[in-house]
Amino acid sequence: MSGEVPWAHSDEYALEGVGRLVGAKKEEVSVCNSLTVNIHVLLTAFYKPTETRHKILLESKAFPSDHYAIESQIRLKGRSVEESMVCLEPREGEETLRTEDILDYIEKNGDEIAVIFFSGIQYYTGQLFDIRTITEAGHRKGCLVGWDLAHAFANVPLHLHWWDVDFAAWCSYKYGCTGAGGIAGLFVHERFHHDKRDRMLGWWSHKMSTRFTMDNVLDLEEGASGYRISNPPIHLVAAMLGSLKVFEQVSLENLRSRSCYLTGYLEYLVKTLFGENSEQRTTKLFISIITPEDFHQRGCQLSLRFSLPIDVIYQELVKRGVACDKRYPDVIRVSPVHLYNNYVDIRRFIAVLQEVAHLVEGQ
Ligand SMILES: Cc1ncc(COP(=O)(O)O)c(C=O)c1O
Repeated sequence: MSGEVPWAHSDEYALEGVGRLVGAKKEEVSVCNSLTVNIHVLLTAFYKPTETRHKILLESKAFPSDHYAIESQIRLKGRSVEESMVCLEPREGEETLRTEDILDYIEKNGDEIAVIFFSGIQYYTGQLFDIRTITEAGHRKGCLVGWDLAHAFANVPLHLHWWDVDFAAWCSYKYGCTGAGGIAGLFVHERFHHDKRDRMLGWWSHKMSTRFTMDNVLDLEEGASGYRISNPPIHLVAAMLGSLKVFEQVSLENLRSRSCYLTGYLEYLVKTLFGENSEQRTTKLFISIITPEDFHQRGCQLSLRFSLPIDVIYQELVKRGVACDKRYPDVIRVSPVHLYNNYVDIRRFIAVLQEVAHLVEGQ
């Protein structure tokens, strides 16, 4: 690769492929930093609270990093979290937020909201939010709308440019397969291309043509490139470029349609063999699925809620080669990944789950 890709500009070689995965123009994306850092980079630039419009709207179960980033951004801008951070809760007895409730909140309170910041796919429940509709609703009320796409990137097709999203960030190490801690990315809509708003700056925010003049007079790069700070970490970018080579060979739309069948099959087997009221259940343990049933509202992942403590179940699944993860108090997240899992993997998972359930019940 070193012959083809100059290390110092390696990130630029990833822009087209990453842009394709998020539905953006090359100029609208940067490949840099890690996800939480990019959330800070973007909120530093886009969250400019005023006396009347100072709130950030997020969901109550936002990923801890997002929650902390937002709290700290509010404090850093001299405001109080109690006044400026608004967390939307699902209705009582429900696991996921209804789109109508989100829209209703924005419609009624949007005048006070500076930024709406949601995750594209909720990490715990697997709920895929209606990015386009929520973005539109925010814009109607004059809010900026940003997205954390950690669980959506390379999982579901995205059209950030056409959905008119203001800004977004993601990591590449979930469905993007670059390995934990892999390089992240950010999106800034092209309407901000010439915008010179205050932001976190470094020498990589400076235009390439004069970057090495070193006269300390900033000549800001335009578009998303101007949100970079440092020179790119080649080892992380190399993994991204490798991953993009695979994604070049297959469209995310095709993967998505495969994914709907795979996840649907997993859902069917879980409901049939572990559903609380299923006659075919042979285990005492039962499982409910908290991810929405409607496949328009989910990606690859299903979040399984167990009726027995998950620690031993998780340990025994992992021992048998299952790659899943546990989230307390009672959820194990399972994701048949469209790129490399198949129906046999799902059957094997179910067989292992039955074995583990019997084992746990016998203890
Ligand atoms: C939704 C979401 N946001 C933020 C993060 C934090 O990512 P990072 O540690 O790469 O900054 C994660 C990590 O899993 C995540 O799932």
